[in-house]
Amino acid sequence: MAEQKEKVVLAYSGGLDTSCCIKWLQVENNLDVIAVVGDVGQEHEGLEKVKQKALKSGALECLVVDMRDTFANEYLAKALAANAMYENKYPLVSALSRPLISKHLVDAAHKFGAKYVAHGCTGKGNDQVRFEASITMLDPSIEILAPVREWDLHTRPEEIDWALEHGIEVPVTKASPYSIDDNLWGRAIECGTLEDPWAEPPADIYTMTADPVEAPDQPEYVELTFARGLPYMINGNQKSFLGVVYALNEIAGKHGYGRIDMIENRLVGVKSRECYEVPGGLALIQAHKALEDLVLEREVLHYKLGMEQAWATAVYNGQWFSPLKEAIDSFMVSTQRCLSGTVKLKFYKGSCTVVGRKSAYSLYDYALATYDKDDAFDHTAAKGFIQLQTLSTKTWAANRRQEGAPAELFDAEKQAGPLTKGKYEGVTSIGVKAVIEEAEAVLA
Ligand code: ARG
Repeated sequence: MAEQKEKVVLAYSGGLDTSCCIKWLQVENNLDVIAVVGDVGQEHEGLEKVKQKALKSGALECLVVDMRDTFANEYLAKALAANAMYENKYPLVSALSRPLISKHLVDAAHKFGAKYVAHGCTGKGNDQVRFEASITMLDPSIEILAPVREWDLHTRPEEIDWALEHGIEVPVTKASPYSIDDNLWGRAIECGTLEDPWAEPPADIYTMTADPVEAPDQPEYVELTFARGLPYMINGNQKSFLGVVYALNEIAGKHGYGRIDMIENRLVGVKSRECYEVPGGLALIQAHKALEDLVLEREVLHYKLGMEQAWATAVYNGQWFSPLKEAIDSFMVSTQRCLSGTVKLKFYKGSCTVVGRKSAYSLYDYALATYDKDDAFDHTAAKGFIQLQTLSTKTWAANRRQEGAPAELFDAEKQAGPLTKGKYEGVTSIGVKAVIEEAEAVLA
């Protein structure tokens, strides 16, 4: 009887890297490979085709799992509640799909009795951390393998040679110079010419969004209706959350809205230049925030901003299944209880502007806000309010201005900044030029 091999569940995409992983795990680790393909709304050549590729590359089985509804309802919905943007810019496209895919990898490992789970990430990115942190939190007994991090196929030609030697199908089309990851929420594009932070992204990196210059000359209005923080109607037509995301990707994309070009701090300590397009997601976050501005009590709104940062950083860093992230989710749920209402968006040549908002739970009070005759605000109360509100800093100012005190104790303008002290004291724009020249001389 043939010896029973141990099994490994591999996150499979259909690309050359993960196809080589299948073979590698067989040849180098002597394992039977179960491939798992997650449909999270990415562009693909046909999932049946991807499955056949996995089997042809040597997988024992290939599971294709449609994760789109769960991804929308349990992942994107939470990201929206948190208005999630890492470093205030990146709506966490890839960071959101990894924990869901990990969940399915662990489920498959249990189903097939696999001791190992594998992924095809490199050793330099965030995704390896997200997969491994998620898998470990879901089942600490599973052992993780990362062939791409370990093998010695360092260049694309080396990898292609290895693939051909081992009977792996190599794509005939010229490989894209970019590394791309995409899903329902958007697309991440890196590498190639983008590695020069000064180089403008070439037009052809974008596929979900039109070039704003070529977008329609007429603006388009969209009304989004939310219940408990989740959008469920677009222009009065009811849709699932998944349906709303698809529809908004289409509309926002057509108007060239949702592109991001940024320098990002990866968890592994590297700054990288990243381009994204997140048409529907960015429009949703903008609309969602606008409704919160109307409905949330001031202190809750302000406190929530800090919690949003904490949520985004935790999820970016692979902490989806962590107790911190779950605790913040509870806070978010509480803030969304009355977040029902409608927001009107205007799309036009690369922009998306909130032009109206309304809610039964609106805290906007016309009588308090107006400068007209209907004004109900008590102007006389402001005087006493200001007296007490400024009492602490007034006490400070009086103390520091005691006779003989040096001006820099209380006069901000006298406090020396880099251009107002020392060599560059009293500099003009010529002085600024000197500072730049000095910096360049240091670097030369
Ligand atoms: N920098 C982004 C992140 O860490 C995108 C990663 C996308 N992965 C890729 N293979 N292109 O979430």
